[in-house]
Amino acid sequence: MKAVAITGATSGIGLETARLLAREGFCVLLAGRCAERLSRAKARILSESPSARVACFQADLMQQREVLRAAAEMNAYLDAHCGGRLHALINNAGCVRSWYMTTEEGYEQQFALNHLSGFLLTHKLLPALLKSNGRVIMTGSASHKGIKIRWDDVMLRRRYNPLTAYKQSKLCNILFARGLNDRFAPGLRAYVVDPGLVKTDIGNKETGALVHFIWSLRKRGGVPPEIPAETFAYLCLKEPPPDGLYYYRCREKKYSKEVTRENADRLFALSERLCGLDGGFAAQDERAGAV
Ligand SMILES: NC(=O)c1ccc[n+]([C@@H]2O[C@H](COP(=O)([O-])OP(=O)(O)OC[C@H]3O[C@@H](n4cnc5c(N)ncnc54)[C@H](OP(=O)(O)O)[C@@H]3O)[C@@H](O)[C@H]2O)c1
Repeated sequence: MKAVAITGATSGIGLETARLLAREGFCVLLAGRCAERLSRAKARILSESPSARVACFQADLMQQREVLRAAAEMNAYLDAHCGGRLHALINNAGCVRSWYMTTEEGYEQQFALNHLSGFLLTHKLLPALLKSNGRVIMTGSASHKGIKIRWDDVMLRRRYNPLTAYKQSKLCNILFARGLNDRFAPGLRAYVVDPGLVKTDIGNKETGALVHFIWSLRKRGGVPPEIPAETFAYLCLKEPPPDGLYYYRCREKKYSKEVTRENADRLFALSERLCGLDGGFAAQDERAGAV
């Protein structure tokens, strides 16, 4: 049974994707911050797909030590039940903030969860992914267009704008995918899904009254999360793996001109430093090759 790990699998797009992939016969590893919501997600999946194999990993993925613990637990599970192989990792967990808030490391929360957590988790699961010519899929957004990375102040500490921080974190998702492909394709493929506007509660969690109100109105025009879930399933199932980078409704879509090799390399170097990965992804790759 092929395994797929999904972060932010307790609600919205992540939960619908997990339900769909379990129905398709994948072993699903669910990562989320709340044990109770994880149990509910697992029960829901098993009620529809009683023979599915579902495992839960509770972690506040905003905090790097929690990402490291979850990754170690996932690797142990994959070794014990899936031959140490991971077919796909879906870095989907995400948040919206109304003001500047930081993690234990002192990092801006949207940058930390929407980008860095997926970067670090991918690094730790890389041997299992490479072992099965795996796929890494980020949940991006069309909002990544029209901005540049603020290299001199990536956390926007000097002049914080929560919307700019969100958009920048989504640009990071594509730069990270581009950087993964530059380094590992065809041994591993990385993609970004633009889910479109989706009716979820993302803007109603830990946000101020204004953002909460605007999102409550805006999400009414969104599609149900079952719609983007189909694109994740397409990218997990399609053989041979598709060649593109950015997908909307199972089709390639144009992305920002900021997505260059130079910017991807720069983001890799910065993210490695912020995650304390001294040897970088290359060192991990060598270990994977020796497996
Ligand atoms: N909705 C849209 O229109 C839209 C558009 C473009 C992109 N996206 C992206 O889609 C992704 C999923 O969002 P969604 O719309 O489906 O919203 P959602 O239902 O709020 O899903 C977000 C998921 O991330 C989890 N999460 C939040 N903070 C976490 C943390 N610290 N540690 C671990 N997990 C955490 C949430 O857990 P809980 O269940 O505990 O809250 C939830 O499972 C995000 O990356 C978002 O940026 C959404």
